[in-house]
Amino acid sequence: MGEASPQVTKVTTEVLRNMKQAKVPIAVLTAYDYLWARILDSAGVDVLLVGDSLGTVVQGRDTTISVTMEHILYHAELVARAAKRALVVADMPFMSFQTSLHEALRNAGQLLKQSNAEAVKLEGGRPVLDTITHLTDAGIPVMGHLGLTPQSIHKFGSYKVRGGNEEEADQIFDDAMALQDAGAFALVLEKIPVELAARITAALSIPTIGIGAGPQCDGQVLVTQDMVGLFTRFKPRFVRRYLALEQTLEETFRRFVADVRQREFPSEDESY
Ligand code: KIV
Repeated sequence: MGEASPQVTKVTTEVLRNMKQAKVPIAVLTAYDYLWARILDSAGVDVLLVGDSLGTVVQGRDTTISVTMEHILYHAELVARAAKRALVVADMPFMSFQTSLHEALRNAGQLLKQSNAEAVKLEGGRPVLDTITHLTDAGIPVMGHLGLTPQSIHKFGSYKVRGGNEEEADQIFDDAMALQDAGAFALVLEKIPVELAARITAALSIPTIGIGAGPQCDGQVLVTQDMVGLFTRFKPRFVRRYLALEQTLEETFRRFVADVRQREFPSEDESY
């Protein structure tokens, strides 16, 4: 399988393209700090996405809108410090790339220079084409994001499936082609019908990474805290919970509290 093999020592955008060609599914999870990133990287996750989902799962907000460049810079730096094999992709927060090409380049450049991320992700279709070209021309790899784009929640008014009717599906399909032409190296497809994701995946030469977009995408992404059952405020249908970590941790912390109350911690062995 050569360069497409999961055995590669460093995942690059080229490795991801080769994985698509070799039909090796790409595994992507979110990471926001050093400790989690180290485990995810050792486990063979191909891409660590420093998502603006940190607004909800780390900061406890209702949306991702309030996430700033400073937040992403800080968390991307922690993740990049841990990642040895995985490609580190940093999300561009709401309003960090929309105001001007100059501002977008300055912010994306800062994510690579200051936090050592290796690529950026930005949400949107036609309106961001020039931005993607501008960044890739400057040597910054860009991952696109279509379908449900959480930064536009106030425009759409809900988190429901996108591309459910023919007109919207055609728009997303056309946007996907245009994003590839503009220079994107991969595309996240969020919460769109399986058939639409399959059609886009077949038509593109760059990899698609699905989240609620069915099994035929070239890769899959989940928010790590969702899939380990640590963030439980709500559970979209596309989340598979591999663990019930919130429960396990709460039980563990209760045991600690009980041990302290009963003077069973520390023991003689744990003392000097
Ligand atoms: O912010 C994020 O974590 C994301 C993924 C859910 C794709 O955009």
